[in-house]
Amino acid sequence: MARDILFSGIQPSGQLNIGHYFGAVKNWLRMQEDFDCLFSLVNLHAITVRQNPSELRSRSLDFVAAYMACGIDPEKSIIFAQSDVPEHSELMWLLSCHTYMGELERMTQFKDKTAKNTDNINLGLFSYPVLMAADILLYQTKAVPVGADQKQHLELARDLANRMNNRYGTLFTVPEPYIPSVEAGGRIMSLLEPEKKMSKSDDNAGNYIALLDSPDVIRKKLKKAVTDTDNEIRYDRDTKAGVSNLLTLLSGATGKSISELEVDYVGKGYGHLKVDTVEAIVALLTPIQAEFARLRNDEAELQRILKIGADKARFQAQATLEKVKQAMGLL
Ligand code: TRP
Repeated sequence: MARDILFSGIQPSGQLNIGHYFGAVKNWLRMQEDFDCLFSLVNLHAITVRQNPSELRSRSLDFVAAYMACGIDPEKSIIFAQSDVPEHSELMWLLSCHTYMGELERMTQFKDKTAKNTDNINLGLFSYPVLMAADILLYQTKAVPVGADQKQHLELARDLANRMNNRYGTLFTVPEPYIPSVEAGGRIMSLLEPEKKMSKSDDNAGNYIALLDSPDVIRKKLKKAVTDTDNEIRYDRDTKAGVSNLLTLLSGATGKSISELEVDYVGKGYGHLKVDTVEAIVALLTPIQAEFARLRNDEAELQRILKIGADKARFQAQATLEKVKQAMGLL
């Protein structure tokens, strides 16, 4: 029985951190078992903002090595760079001719980004959601794991799929958002401002634990993590955001539930909780970091894996693109 296809696009930007690991990567490991997954490093999306070419290249390889070190397995899933599959750009044009200006003008991310990058409001930033729709529709994708910030873009992909299917006959599977069943409290917050999400693009590195932080750095960052003054280890996101975040981290790293941990820590202090959290995170990250170093050291091998991924992806992408071109009357 063929499995449903799942597509996830990953921007090679910012610093991979432990919030991303618990919030996304760990779910992908499970999805790998349930779907035929494509994990695409979306470097064509990344260039909608200015990039330093050598940094972009090197960061892209970092990301591939990091995801593989976390357990994304090229034997099970297709891992590839978006720029290696030219069908993405080609389908994008065909979709562009069916996308209304008004649909793109409404996109909240476009409005936010143009407000921030006033010196580089380029056409790519505007048409970015059409490229994202092409990414998804090329593979007859059924499931797309997306956060709240990408919901509107996925909605456009669905609208375009329906619009094209109605006009030309069935060409595309209509994709659906895939919301993994996260354990309660799986969301990791910033260490210094625990009311906001731990972000990979935070300017202050004290707010996150990077996947590649050394034990010493992890210890220092957690030491400074915000708690509160009532010295009670209890989970309550509203009134005890910092302590709750430490409990979530410890729970994620050890596999123990939050309520088990609350019992374990009755009568103990925050210092104790922090020391144990450091230890658990270091134990989690040490083997990942070792595997990352091994993979990242062999660029030829990484390139070989990406090439195999691109070949597999192209095979599927070409079939869809051919069908669309035929249906539209392109010779
Ligand atoms: N736009 C997504 C983001 O910024 C990345 C992305 C590109 C994507 N193409 C995609 C996500 C296709 C899911 C499916 O996070």
